[in-house]
Amino acid sequence: MKREVESGSELELTRRELFVGAAASAAAGLPAVAAAQQSAVEQPAISKVSLVINGRAHSLSLDNRTTLLDALREHLHLTGSKKGCDQGQCGACTVIVNGRRVVSCLTLAVMHEGSQVTTIEGLGSPERLHPMQAAFIKHDGFQCGYCTPGQICSAVAVLDEIGRGVPSHVTADLTTQPLLKVDELRERMSGNICRCGAYSNIVDAITEVAGVRT
Ligand code: FES
Ligand code: FES
Repeated sequence: MKREVESGSELELTRRELFVGAAASAAAGLPAVAAAQQSAVEQPAISKVSLVINGRAHSLSLDNRTTLLDALREHLHLTGSKKGCDQGQCGACTVIVNGRRVVSCLTLAVMHEGSQVTTIEGLGSPERLHPMQAAFIKHDGFQCGYCTPGQICSAVAVLDEIGRGVPSHVTADLTTQPLLKVDELRERMSGNICRCGAYSNIVDAITEVAGVRT
């Protein structure tokens, strides 16, 4: 039956009828998939996650879709790790998880239950710099500094990789320990992009720290 809509109240009634009709259809199971999708959007799955970050235990309730980077920055306010591309291409978000470097924008926090996470805040402080932080300052290994926390975390993990004998793409002889050569360092740091182009100075900084260690 055709009804004329002449006033606001009549229009309101029509909208209400629409909602009631939609709810009745959902209850009848007709748009079950759409209703389920709507429900999933409205009620995200939440998980409890325990992490040890920079030596301190944290227990968080997180939407399962939360990246490790967002957990650090948005939930714990550890904003040293930077969000550059948010898709694994720039390395600005690099942190160290259980001794291995990880681009934290590409991994979910819930995947790291019980993990030990080290961010730039945990490597050193302005009063007590990590040797790699001090070397970056000494060699001007940055300009704008946006990539620097990721570069430094990556550099620290790179020297550990080399120390453990982990080969890189340019390691010619897999039966020998990787050498601390410039091409090795450049290859291993190639996932960390610097738009300011401080690469030469970054390599100088890493080389100095490596020299101190060996
Ligand atoms: S922000 Fe994670 S790789 Fe760019
Ligand atoms: S210092 Fe500016 S992006 Fe690297």
